[in-house]
Amino acid sequence: MKTRHPLAVLFVVATFGALVACGSKKPPKPVETTPTVEDAGAVEDASPAAPVQKSLFERLGGKDGIKAVVDTFVKNVSADKRINKQFLKTTGPKLEHFKAAMVDQICEATGGECKYTGKNMKDAHKNMKITEAQFAAVVEDLKMALEEKGVGEGERNDLFALLAPMKDDIVEVKDKPKP
Ligand code: HEM
Repeated sequence: MKTRHPLAVLFVVATFGALVACGSKKPPKPVETTPTVEDAGAVEDASPAAPVQKSLFERLGGKDGIKAVVDTFVKNVSADKRINKQFLKTTGPKLEHFKAAMVDQICEATGGECKYTGKNMKDAHKNMKITEAQFAAVVEDLKMALEEKGVGEGERNDLFALLAPMKDDIVEVKDKPKP
């Protein structure tokens, strides 16, 4: 009979022993728990949060922020020789109406809970013969007011993007097209 090398016997025993040992070592049973409300929250928190974009109305500081801008805008306009003649009759209750209308218009256009009930821009500026330069002056006075009230460039640009389409209805004296 062929005799096995003693080391071979040792190898077989050791390997078998290791296998048995391995098999007997059961992995720890996962502890089962009932999911809680907190767990559900944790799962939600782990998912990438959807960016919450504030409305322009909120970014302007809400109605109070808009009122502050319009007050400063009106001061700028009355000191602006390029356009203040147009507003000579806008005093007293007329001025209050104009300011409230501007606030509601900006508030509504930027996503606030307001309703603009004033005239449409064509009727409001009919026969005023407003020029492109005067329109640009009003935009400049509004820009200065926004800057003075600490409104950032992004918000200013977003607001001007909303006002720009009104130009066609407001300006009656268009610049001649350059040859
Ligand atoms: C984006 C530009 C402008 C906006 C958003 C705007 C907005 C308004 C609004 C909301 C009103 C009140 C309408 C109503 O009574 O129901 C108004 C009236 C008026 N706007 Fe403008 N406007 C603009 C440009 C201009 C310009 C360029 C001028 C002249 C330089 C001008 C002169 C006037 C005048 C004189 C009134 C009448 C005020 C009064 O009732 O006494 N506006 N505008």
